[in-house]
Parts: sequence; C-alpha cells; structure tokens
Amino acid sequence: MCGIVGYVGEKKAQDYLISGLKRLEYRGYDSAGIVTLDDEGKATLLRAKGKIANLEEKLARAKRDDHIGIGHTRWATHGEPSETNAHPHQAGSIYLVHNGIIENYKELKAQLKEFEFQSETDSEVLAALINSFYQNGQYPLVNAVVQALKLVKGTYGIAVVSEIEPKEMVVARSGSPLVIGVGHDETLIASDASALIGHTKRAIYLNDGEVAVIGKNSIEIKTLNAEPVSAKVEEIETNLAAIQKGGYDHFLLKEIMEQPESLIETLRGRVNLKEGMVHLGGPGLSEAELRKIKHLIIVGCGTAYHAGLLAGYYIEQFSPELTIETVIASEYRYRSAYIPENSVALIVSQSGETADTLACLREIKKQGVKTIGIVNAIGSTIAREVDGGTYVHVGPEISVASTKAFTSQVVAMVMFGLTIAQAKGVKGAMLRPYVEEIAHLPEEIRTVLDKVPDQVRKIAEKHAEYDHAIYLGRDTAYPTAMEGALKLKEVSYVDANAYAFGELKHGPLALIDDRFFEVVLLPKGALYEKAVSNIQEVLARGGHVVVVTNADRFDLPVEDVVKIESSAELFAPLLMNLVSQLLAYYITVCKGFNVDQPRNLAKSVTVE
Ligand code: M6R
Repeated sequence: MCGIVGYVGEKKAQDYLISGLKRLEYRGYDSAGIVTLDDEGKATLLRAKGKIANLEEKLARAKRDDHIGIGHTRWATHGEPSETNAHPHQAGSIYLVHNGIIENYKELKAQLKEFEFQSETDSEVLAALINSFYQNGQYPLVNAVVQALKLVKGTYGIAVVSEIEPKEMVVARSGSPLVIGVGHDETLIASDASALIGHTKRAIYLNDGEVAVIGKNSIEIKTLNAEPVSAKVEEIETNLAAIQKGGYDHFLLKEIMEQPESLIETLRGRVNLKEGMVHLGGPGLSEAELRKIKHLIIVGCGTAYHAGLLAGYYIEQFSPELTIETVIASEYRYRSAYIPENSVALIVSQSGETADTLACLREIKKQGVKTIGIVNAIGSTIAREVDGGTYVHVGPEISVASTKAFTSQVVAMVMFGLTIAQAKGVKGAMLRPYVEEIAHLPEEIRTVLDKVPDQVRKIAEKHAEYDHAIYLGRDTAYPTAMEGALKLKEVSYVDANAYAFGELKHGPLALIDDRFFEVVLLPKGALYEKAVSNIQEVLARGGHVVVVTNADRFDLPVEDVVKIESSAELFAPLLMNLVSQLLAYYITVCKGFNVDQPRNLAKSVTVE
C-alpha cells in the first residue's frame, strides 16, 4: 500500500527519494511523486501516474541538488490514480505526503472554503488544514501540524515540508507506520525500514500519537499533547541481499526457494530434539499461565488466516483440552463474539501492519485477553502492541504473494501449541512426532524444492490456458488447498477456489467441466481412501485432475501426479503447498503477468 520516504542531510535528496520509493514498490502503488526544496525554499514538485519509471522520466529534466525532500507512492483510495491525485499535495507553502485515511475529510473540507482543491483526495484536505493553521509561516510548522492532527479522525503517517522552513521536516503517525533512519549528517524517513537499508542501520520507530521535527542532525519527538518522548534507537537487522532478487527472475520464486533457510531461522534455538520439546521465549507466559489456557483465538487476513486455520487443525490434534477458533480479522473486529475466560489470542501477520488485524488486536486487548503476535516484520506496529510474541524471522518478503511467511507462521503457531501442551503435561510420546517432524522440515522442504520445480513448470504450461481452478483437500490438506487457491488467483488471475473434498457433492461438483482443472492435495493418512473416492467422482464427470501426494502408489488415470517423496507425514501438506506455490508462479509466468506485483493488490494492507 502507499509508501513514504523523506530525506534531510548533505546529499542529493532526489537520489534517496527515488531509490527509497523503488524499495517500496513491492507494497503496491499506482502513482508516485516527490518534492524537494533548495536552501531558499524553492520547491521542485514532480508527480506521475503509473510506475516510478514515469517519475524518473520527469526527473531527468528536473535534476536538483536540494538537500531536503519527501516522496510517496500512492495506492488509490479516494479518487482515481492520476497525476493530480498523486502526492505530495501542496497547500500554500507546505507539501504533504500521507498514508492512511482521513475519515472525516468531508467535514474538514467543508470548513476550508477558501482553499481551491485540486484533487479528490482526503490527503489534500489534511494539507489544506495544516496550511490554514500555518498562516504562511506565522507559527512553526510543527504547531500547525499538531493543531490539524487534533481535528483528524482516521489513520495517518505523514511527512510535511515547508518552503518557509526548508531545513526541517515534520512527521507524525497514527495507525500508519513511520520509521526514522538516523545517519551521519543526514536523517531519513520511510514507511518501511527496507527503504533505509544501505543508508543506516539505526532506526527509531515512531509510535501512534507522536510527532517529530527532523533536521539533518536533530530529531525531536513529542506527543500531540506536547509531552517530550525519549527516542529508542533500534538496529535494523535486514541486509541488502535480503531485499534483492539474488539471481532469480522474480522475488516470488526466490522466496519460494529460500524456504529451507527461512524456516531454519524460525526454528533457530527453539527446538530441542533430544528432549523432544520446543522452547519459545517470546510469548512471555509463565508455565502457570500456559496451563490455564482453555481457548485460542487465531486472527489474521488472507494467507495469515489460512496459516491460522492450518495450525488450528494441528494444535487440536495434540491438545485435547483446548478449543481453537481461527477468524478473519475484517469480520471479527465487528462481531460481538464472546471470548471465554482463559483465552489467548494469536495475532498473525507477516507485515505486522495489516489494518484489520491491528484493529482486532486492539479490540481483543480491550477485553483483557492476552495477545501473542506471530509476526515477521520486526518493530512493526502489531509486534509492538501485542503482550508477547514469536517473530517468524523469515526476512523481508517482497513479493505481494506471501509464501515463506505462510510456512513459518504455521510452524511457529504449532510450536506455540506445543508449548501449551508441554505445560499442560501432555505426554511426550504424543508431542515428540510433531517436534521431530518440525526439526526436519527444512531438509524435507529442500528435497522437495530440489525435485519438483521442473515437473510443476511443465504442468503449469499445460494448464496456463484455463481460467478456472478448484483446489481440493481434506483435513489439514483443506486449509492448505485454500492457501493454494489464493496463491493462484492473486498472481495469475485464474478464478481459483478451494473446497473441503467432502463438500464437493453439496454443490461445487456441478462446476466440473472442460473450463476447470482441479488440484487435489492428497496426503497419506486416515482420510486417504475417502479422498481417492472423491477423486473418482471428479474423474467420472470429466475433471482435469492434478494430484499432489506423498502416497507410495497412486494409479488413478489423472492428468498429472506430483509425488512428494518425504518422510514427513504430519506436515506433508506444508510440502504439498510448495507445489501450489510453484504452480501459481509458473502459470503466471506463462500468462506473462507481473508476478511480484499483481494488479490491484498491495503487500501491506494498511487501510481497512
Ligand atoms: O501482512 P499480513 O500477513 O497481515 O497480510 C495479510 C494478507 O494481506 C496477506 O497474507 C495476503 O493475503 C497475501 N497477498 C496473500 O499472498
């Protein structure tokens, strides 16, 4: 979703602004813009619809040595993608970039009668409001910003510069992330720390309700109520290699292929094979607190929701006394759901910034329920607001389609379930198989990723012309099928849906015809034979079936069988999901679509 960058220092601001915006491209956007100020405050404003390359074309004719500036990539919410609606927005002598949504912009706009609005955006209303308090520099910019923000309802991460005070910028946040990078004779800002990598490793994460005045060697942070804040400087752990393609054509393929390593990071120091136990420090719950847990609510959106569903299937297998409810954040936040006593909520999010998930977290906290984050992005809002947490540590996930995060989210949640079970005294013999399989999962993933890509590419080539797909599975293979269908639809735009195999006869079976192909995830186990019968029902209706299985023998006349050779049985669906991920990737490549940035989507969904 929208991205913000800003620079004040000794170098050319335009250079950082453009490179920073490029780093944020993965979040999804439809227009971009920058403004820089020279030492006298003369502004150079450049905006363009579409890709940053369009902005760069304009920049080629407007290169400046200016040392301060702000930039933005916009993902349209109010008003179509256009140059006029792109940020920065100008109001008098000030320029503003904004992430988030100003909910009361209509009322505010009605009060700003004098101002001639150029755009349809809520953000321009905020710029005009700040300008109305600024009174052409009669008051310090920061005071004008604070007064305006006190009237705003909604969410924002903003950066503001003024032609009258060209040595400083003002930034603020409420609900949209903002990171300040502390450099030598320069200070940088960004909505996502990945823009800062290579410039500085020292970062300050602004909190909601804080505003900062930033100069090249100064950072002064206060609350909106003028209380001084002493900033905590944290280290950015990510390195440059983690945000580059590293020889792959696309981030999606890179992120699929790096799952053995990313899962090792998730497991590091947390699994003790000898004892057959897991040790999670982050949740910060005592043994007594763990023993008391009776109910788990797992909250997420999209892939994180699927990870929660799948983890729930596993946890209930070894925790007989625990009830588990996995919910979609955008629904749950508005439900009047009763939360039983002794509940704990797992808040699952790769980015740690998803607006709906964050809203749920806050609602759940209000009810006094302990919240545990299963988060990837270090220092993100969710990570900071939960009571305790387990980082999945998969490194930056750049491709909009989430892959490596899914695998690690599932495993991290299962480890949390195991932690509860251990505390409750569930027999070691019951838990050991899970611990052992988890410990060996990185190798199993590596084996599958070494073997299957070529075969999956060929299957993709055969199926790239279909516009419809159905993913099918039972038990743990069902949420995995849901994830497979989401992956295919979001990157290849194939209309893909998942069904629990047993549900097929209750409706979806009517769909089967030559326009559809079916992907069946078929793990060995108690429901194997039933699923095989279900496949026969599909074949009898002329289905075009691709089977992914770890069964030793499978001899129905389906179109393709992808064999998962692995000793992992419990977690075989996670290995099958690698096939779904690759299938989505290769089908999209065949179709020639933008693999890493599918249309209409954003990596981090920071608006409702
Ligand atoms: O950052 P989060 O994990 O909170 O994101 C949740 C969803 O927006 C995300 O998983 C989305 O569904 C992905 N594009 C799926 O690949």
